[in-house]
Amino acid sequence: MDKLWWKECVVYQIYPRSFKDSNGDGIGDIKGIISKLDYLTDLGIDVIWLSPVYQSPNEDNGYDISDYQEIMDDFGTMDDFDMLLTEAHKRGLKIIMDLVVNHTSDEHKWFIESKKSLDNPFRDYYIWRKGKNGEMPNNWGSWFGGNAWEYDSTTDMYYLHIFAKKQPDLNWDNPKVRNDIYDMMTWWLDKGIDGFRMDVISLISKKPDFPDGETHGGLYGDLAPFCIHGPNVHNYLREMNQKVLSHYNIMTVGEATGVTIDEAIKYAGYESKELNMVFQFEHLENLISGEYGKWSDKHFSLVDLKKVMNKWQKGLEGKAWNCLFWSNHDQPMAVSRFGNDSEKYREISAKMLGTCMHMLKGTPYIYQGEELGMTNVKFDSLDDYRDLETINKYHELVNQRGVKPEKMMEYIYHVGRDNARTPMQWDDSENAGFSLGTPWIKVNENYKIINAKMQVNNPDSVYSYYKKLIELRKKYEIIVYGDYELLLPDDKNIYAYLRMLGSQILLIICNFSEDETEFIMPNNLIGKKGELLISNYKNDTDIDKMRLKLRPYESRVILFQ
Ligand code: NOJ
Repeated sequence: MDKLWWKECVVYQIYPRSFKDSNGDGIGDIKGIISKLDYLTDLGIDVIWLSPVYQSPNEDNGYDISDYQEIMDDFGTMDDFDMLLTEAHKRGLKIIMDLVVNHTSDEHKWFIESKKSLDNPFRDYYIWRKGKNGEMPNNWGSWFGGNAWEYDSTTDMYYLHIFAKKQPDLNWDNPKVRNDIYDMMTWWLDKGIDGFRMDVISLISKKPDFPDGETHGGLYGDLAPFCIHGPNVHNYLREMNQKVLSHYNIMTVGEATGVTIDEAIKYAGYESKELNMVFQFEHLENLISGEYGKWSDKHFSLVDLKKVMNKWQKGLEGKAWNCLFWSNHDQPMAVSRFGNDSEKYREISAKMLGTCMHMLKGTPYIYQGEELGMTNVKFDSLDDYRDLETINKYHELVNQRGVKPEKMMEYIYHVGRDNARTPMQWDDSENAGFSLGTPWIKVNENYKIINAKMQVNNPDSVYSYYKKLIELRKKYEIIVYGDYELLLPDDKNIYAYLRMLGSQILLIICNFSEDETEFIMPNNLIGKKGELLISNYKNDTDIDKMRLKLRPYESRVILFQ
């Protein structure tokens, strides 16, 4: 059991555009983040994952970078960033940066050069192909809608973009690209940042033959089999590790879209010499996806969720380390997706979800606002949405695939990325205390009843509950290092599991439903004296009984010594 700081920490993700605006332009910024560092210190988190703050034309809110070594004008200056790093470090907080290197912006100088001519020194920085019989090089569809190829008349060729056409994919097979990226990473690490979250890192190596993909009844071919975990992805990451990462005591986490257990162990196994952890997404989109991929309004089943979580908990045991998360900037808010965001159950179910995730084995990631039980949003009109994926997919599915507009809006309410991007709700003043100007995206109307100011000093709030969960992690080693064992795999309402370390056993029980239900103690724990470490209800008296009554969304964590 290797004890390592990044296993013990709690990460908090900041989406800077929506976190805190300091200058009244309606856009969150770095000075805004600095002003909230004390809030994060009070919450008790250890590491901030900062979504991209680099120079960017903002086609995809900073995931389209035009200069990796400059700060986006909307967010401030490099001096502001340096101040943020200093102020964070002063408080014992670490900062990991988003590293977006599968693609750049088309306004990056490499791409501007690359487009100019076939013999430009930067031509091979991107993936260019000739058309076939006057058509695209193949039938691949972009993940943000439309074709994955864009024609450029200067050289009469197409470039590949898995995401928006303003996000051309870099050619990682070119050693110059890799070395430039490694130099840039070294530059940031020498500045003192504490690691990287690597955007869609599983996509950087493409199979070289570029055949058509399966259409699965849709309009475009599926590029996933040719781009995910491509032939050289592990060679490149090992090289990156050897040339850059291994020289620093940092934390690295890769966004590994489409990852299996075996692949995860290759990326982030204890012996892999690549990354520390990977994000897997099986418990999110996969559980609800249907005819239109993630665009669906299906509800997850708890039995399926447990199956997936159990697979990852057991599958990585002793081999690699899990990332624990309900949400991020691409996902709906946790309480709306996995809990119950009605007035009656929002707080209680948000606390239950916090319990369930934070007691699993792995490093927990909190997405901004989750610690307040912030919810999804329902804007009446598509015009109020800002996310290009949402807007593009609306047009593709409604105009080209016959989905009814009202149905599509339901899908958006359910899974659209802007659910997580409405401004952070700081208080009940105008714009939720996020900005004195007009926010770049509308504030969720529920800010008067869900905001940090109401919760920080309230011992019964979701915020205080998260704070306690984090404190428990610091106090009980079993929460970090204990082995995991699932109980009741087929129960439709209860997610219960054990953690075990030496002679200690931790029992975690979470009722995922609004029904009262009963939990039967495992035989080996009956009659043992347990200590209740945390519960989202008061008056827990019957912890050593054989049968426990669970109230709606009740959760308990009981330690047996
Ligand atoms: C994954 C990021 O999390 C998402 O926000 C972004 O749009 C795509 N990668 C493209 O960079």
